[in-house]
Amino acid sequence: MTRSTSLPTTLYLSAPEMIRLVRRQGLTACIAGVAERIRHEFLRWNEFDKSARLACHSELGVIELMPIADASQFAFKYVNGHPGNHRRGLPTVMAFGMLADVQTGMPRLLSELTLTTAIRTAAMSALAARSLARPGSRRMALIGNGAQAEFQALAFRDLVGVEVLSLYDTDPAATAKLVANLAGQGLRLEVCAGTAEAVRGADIVTTATADKSHAAILTPDMIEPGMHLNAVGGDCPGKTELHRGVLGLSSVFVEYEPQSRIEGEIQQMPADFAVTEFWQVLAGRRPGRRSPSEVTVFDSVGFALEDFAALAFMGERAAALGFGEVIELMPDAADPKDLFGLLASRPRPAGPAPRQAGAARRMPPARTKLPAPM
Ligand SMILES: NC(=O)c1ccc[n+]([C@@H]2O[C@H](COP(=O)([O-])OP(=O)(O)OC[C@H]3O[C@@H](n4cnc5c(N)ncnc54)[C@H](O)[C@@H]3O)[C@@H](O)[C@H]2O)c1
Repeated sequence: MTRSTSLPTTLYLSAPEMIRLVRRQGLTACIAGVAERIRHEFLRWNEFDKSARLACHSELGVIELMPIADASQFAFKYVNGHPGNHRRGLPTVMAFGMLADVQTGMPRLLSELTLTTAIRTAAMSALAARSLARPGSRRMALIGNGAQAEFQALAFRDLVGVEVLSLYDTDPAATAKLVANLAGQGLRLEVCAGTAEAVRGADIVTTATADKSHAAILTPDMIEPGMHLNAVGGDCPGKTELHRGVLGLSSVFVEYEPQSRIEGEIQQMPADFAVTEFWQVLAGRRPGRRSPSEVTVFDSVGFALEDFAALAFMGERAAALGFGEVIELMPDAADPKDLFGLLASRPRPAGPAPRQAGAARRMPPARTKLPAPM
């Protein structure tokens, strides 16, 4: 039997390769590119088969799967959230994922998504703030100065125009790390002694803390008219950052309502508490901010469509710049009905020559596509 289709190959982007790619492309270009891709995909909202993510909870954290598909591509992300992981030398959030062809089910891109999640989360936050924060917002409080913080800072600098950051973390070493990493980035940094001090006078407040509890990082007394709150860290059942009174005085925007009702800040509110899905604001169907004094909340939990967009963007940049390895994730049987034959020592029937197991090939530079049509 002779094969008429292309070999079943997958582009693999390891964590070190993703780091190389982001350095080459430039972090700020990646954030801006992913934000634009998210905007583009959110405007195709009704073309996607969407579902709330599947979660396995334990005492110490959560492990989640996030699937989504349109007519041509399927994506999923594996991601965890273990706030105590730093005590074991591991990040709180770790992720990987893939893009596959819907027509065949063949995986076309397998990628690290830990670094990419920080990029896409920051891109999504800034995209939301562009519609929801007051025009001219320049001062942002950043509460929780861990792994996500630098990405949030740079996204808000570039996409929203933030110039001043007031910082607070219960761990002073995290804030010191953030200050060191942001040196020379054109942001004025103010280290604060507490959340209330950091939040005072801010146009935007980003909370990116990690604590598996109903925390009250922001309480109603801290909220000033016109603030925009970007609540990133409350993202699973029993893990929230805003006092429910803050939600009561705000207009709340979410990614995908069925998932946010379970995981977002709004898990604290009655099932009929009014929220707006953010894609409707982007599409011009619903208003974003309606007045300079309105308090807006982006109740971010992270939705699969953002990862779909990030995978597509990173995969395309990798293919164009020649990053990643072409791997054989699927067995390459000349006769697709003869899987068993792959185990036989007899010579294979006519077809493409077998390759050495485990032989990975680097992508040739200047390719414009992933290994097969996507
Ligand atoms: N919404 C999304 O799409 C999305 C994406 C990625 C991560 N997250 C969540 O964002 C949060 C931050 O992620 P990370 O990777 O930066 O975690 P991290 O563990 O690296 O950093 C969290 C920081 O919060 C600090 N902190 C904890 N409690 C605090 C408090 N009461 N006040 C001030 N600081 C406090 C910790 O000291 C730590 O430095 C996590 O909860 C994570 O699950 C959400």
